[in-house]
Amino acid sequence: MSQRNPTQPLSNNAHLLRWVEKMAALTQPAAIHWVDGSDEEYAALCQQLVAGGTFTKLNEKLWPGCFHARSDPGDVARVEDRTFICSLSKDGAGPTNNWVNPFEMRKKLRDLFTNCMAGRTMYVLPFSMGPVGSPMSQIGVQLTDSPYVVVNTRIMARIGLPVIREIDKGEKRVVPCMHSVGVPLAPGAKDVSWPCNKEKYIVHFPETREIWSYGSGYGGNALLGKKCFALRIASNLARDEGWMAEHMLILGVEDPQGRKTYVAAAFPSACGKTNFAMLIPPAHFQKQGWKVWTVGDDIAWLKPDATGRLRAINPEAGFFGVAPGTSLKTNPNAMASLAKNTIFTNVALTPDGGVWWEGMTDTPPAECIDWQGKKWTPVIGKETGAKAAHPNSRFTAPASQCPTIDPAWEDPEGVPIHAIVFGGRRATTMPLIYQAFNWSSGVYVGATMGSEMTAAAAGTVGKVRRDPMAMLPFCGYNMGDYFRHWINMQRQLTETPRVFHVNWFRKDADGKFMWPGFSENMRVLKWIVDRVRAGGRAKETPIGWVPRYKDIEWEGLDFPEAKFEELQQFDRAAWRAEVLGHEELFIDLHAHLPKELIYERELLICRL
Ligand code: OXD
Ligand code: MN
Repeated sequence: MSQRNPTQPLSNNAHLLRWVEKMAALTQPAAIHWVDGSDEEYAALCQQLVAGGTFTKLNEKLWPGCFHARSDPGDVARVEDRTFICSLSKDGAGPTNNWVNPFEMRKKLRDLFTNCMAGRTMYVLPFSMGPVGSPMSQIGVQLTDSPYVVVNTRIMARIGLPVIREIDKGEKRVVPCMHSVGVPLAPGAKDVSWPCNKEKYIVHFPETREIWSYGSGYGGNALLGKKCFALRIASNLARDEGWMAEHMLILGVEDPQGRKTYVAAAFPSACGKTNFAMLIPPAHFQKQGWKVWTVGDDIAWLKPDATGRLRAINPEAGFFGVAPGTSLKTNPNAMASLAKNTIFTNVALTPDGGVWWEGMTDTPPAECIDWQGKKWTPVIGKETGAKAAHPNSRFTAPASQCPTIDPAWEDPEGVPIHAIVFGGRRATTMPLIYQAFNWSSGVYVGATMGSEMTAAAAGTVGKVRRDPMAMLPFCGYNMGDYFRHWINMQRQLTETPRVFHVNWFRKDADGKFMWPGFSENMRVLKWIVDRVRAGGRAKETPIGWVPRYKDIEWEGLDFPEAKFEELQQFDRAAWRAEVLGHEELFIDLHAHLPKELIYERELLICRL
């Protein structure tokens, strides 16, 4: 442990000190620990988690600096039905959010949080979303009784003393984030390895910029800087202040001339954002000098600069990636990122003190301990259908360890955004790639995005749901007003990014994926860069601009023209059904829907 006394407040900000005192009086922790973010503190907390049975230290030779955690089986994903936007008016939250009257919710939270940290330590965790001191960054302080959350946040955000110094300058508003796993400990009682409560509340108060989270220790429910702050609260800040908080990866494409074209892409949870952000171009492209650089894999904050150009930062400092499916074949950069100093949650443990998950290797280990702590073998898996790793098991890895991390990834001014890409997981209807006609039709494309559901959230896997801009679970206010904000952004921009839609997941009549994806997505990315940079060739269709076969670079991939035509096929009947699907969402939002989107829909119908 560091020499410092962690109960000693690190800040002299009177507001902060008073709030910490008040929250301690409410939750009655046994101790308070101000987090300084040091290496020594991190090591001591990890050691404490090992001693308490939450962490297993992995084989230091194979997995240096890595730990494994197993959650409670009832606490494995974000809980969207327990996530609330408690704005003053119900209309402010809109029909796509769960709303509870804020006065009622505060009463409920007061009850839940009373004495909820008894027997535990309350950590005071200052964090910055975005590089400390960047004009685009935001600051929060999370009070939490979960040391697991503290060590994960140290990877996912900038934390500790440098942030305290920012707070003490008193120039930036601090977002208070209250978090408890909701399991007070009676004196002398033995703790469990993953304390959590059956009753879960993930609550946002947009007007007062507050977050209260109760009952869960997992991912976006508990690492409050991520979805709760950087998306739900930040979307409110962004609307009020003229910028955008989006569920987007950011990547930079370097062309053979050495120019960089930055692309921000919104795909729903577990649809391959991390893979796309870390794409390695096929050999032929590499030989020509193409390279893809990673800025972020999940969240982008976009803001017009003084010249009216949209610039973006990644507010996070790490990757909280879905483990299953990640391998040296699918994403070598992610594998390098997670090779050391990483926390794994709900993956399988191998007998040599390593980790494994479905898809990591072609051949599973002969035996391992599954995510619930039970013996697992390939035979058991086959017979019972049990997975070794939970489908939403995760790695928490430092972004700085990514071999393709962009040299500008921590630039306080952000990187210039040239293109915005929307995409989802769609077996039918959606072509591999098309480009929207202009900004407002691009907003329509994003607003009507749909995707088949994945394991990242509790729900029915496989069902198509509308997920506008991949923000359905993350927009902290009325979705109709959010569309209006997108439309309005154009007025602030001297140059609007070009807008595209991709679908890596179209299937043929036999139910097989038609597009190889992964590295080969570079071919699509190159067309996007061509369109942005040099007005590359395209063909007009009723839904937007599409590449012809000859507009795509095919060197090194045997992909016949007929197959490409099938992959790109525009099916009028399917699109009629698609537009009816758009209407379902629009009816819900009608009172707040910008007229531009109604016109865009009419124009699309006319073209169909
Ligand atoms: C995530 C998610 O964890 O979107 O990034 O669920
Ligand atoms: Mn996400």
